[in-house]
Amino acid sequence: LPEGIKQMMEAHELLKKFYHHLLLNTKEGQEALEYLLGRGFTEETIKKFQIGYSLDSWDFVYKFLTKRGFSSKRLEEAGLIIMRERDGTYFDRFRNRIMFPILDHQGNTIAFSGRALGEDEPKYMNSPETAIFNKSKILYNFHSSRPQIRKKEQVVLFEGFADCISAVAAGIDHSVATMGTSLTPQHIDLIKRNTSNVLICYDSDSAGITAADRASTMLQEAGLSIKVALMPDNLDPDDYIKKYGATSFVTDVIGASLTATGFRLQFLRRGKNLTNEGDRIQYIEAALREISRLGNAVERDYYLRQLSSEFTLSLDALEQQQRQIFYAEK
Ligand code: GTP
Ligand code: MN
Ligand code: MN
Ligand code: MN
Ligand code: MN
Repeated sequence: LPEGIKQMMEAHELLKKFYHHLLLNTKEGQEALEYLLGRGFTEETIKKFQIGYSLDSWDFVYKFLTKRGFSSKRLEEAGLIIMRERDGTYFDRFRNRIMFPILDHQGNTIAFSGRALGEDEPKYMNSPETAIFNKSKILYNFHSSRPQIRKKEQVVLFEGFADCISAVAAGIDHSVATMGTSLTPQHIDLIKRNTSNVLICYDSDSAGITAADRASTMLQEAGLSIKVALMPDNLDPDDYIKKYGATSFVTDVIGASLTATGFRLQFLRRGKNLTNEGDRIQYIEAALREISRLGNAVERDYYLRQLSSEFTLSLDALEQQQRQIFYAEK
């Protein structure tokens, strides 16, 4: 590796260890530690993910790292400090935040995401794109979960890394998360090199469900087999685990995940009032269109029977209509 890159990684590594120490062992870190414990993160989890705390200071990082021989220019390139336009002096990017180190796929620490302790904005602040950090390529926790992904021949994909951390603590150790971006073709390539089965477990709010629909389409187009897990009441996976426990998450969410078609059929119901005749007919049409895309006759039969029983329609009529749609779209 070029010297500059090595130095940027070393600076992150040193800082990660110090942030972690501040969180666990100092008075300054106490409020942050209480926040995390209050959210249900255990000390074991905090250690496993090397979570830390950045001091409420404008120049702690600057002093800590320049004292250890790093140039201001290098630290600025690494995204750890920012130059003031006014006089060319520097200040720390991350202040008074809970610090989540981000590792590349080889295990080097290459960035941070800092969460505000309360309701401060922005909620999460990420390192900028640098020579060592490219958000659209990185999957959070991939370095540590890769062996499990290969062994279980599946990856579980989250939209938030808090969700990923809670899922790992709940025993779902083949988990990864995107870094606040939507899924990219680079992420998909990386997944494809390691497994062909993806379980999407995004937040069950409107934004999350729309993102899950987009991700499932992209992953299927890339030839991957997908499942989608949904939670009740707009919860996200971390909220669900805190509310209902790890066992219920494993059984009732991960274990009850839907097939791609099952998920699309749920998705098509959104915003529709199925007691209303017009909405009901629209939904049945859309559902038949979805079913007509299935290459497998047994699967088509399975979903047609579901429709038939839910809306008390004759299976014959549904089959006939489905076939018509299939030939019309060919
Ligand atoms: P918690 O509120 O801590 O539970 O976070 P969350 O994981 O539920 O986050 P949320 O669902 O709001 O967002 C999912 C992901 O989007 C996060 O993990 C972040 O990567 C990203 N994100 C959320 N809020 C912000 C923000 O204010 N700024 C940036 N840059 N990213 C954000
Ligand atoms: Mn969300
Ligand atoms: Mn969330
Ligand atoms: Mn949220
Ligand atoms: Mn959350």
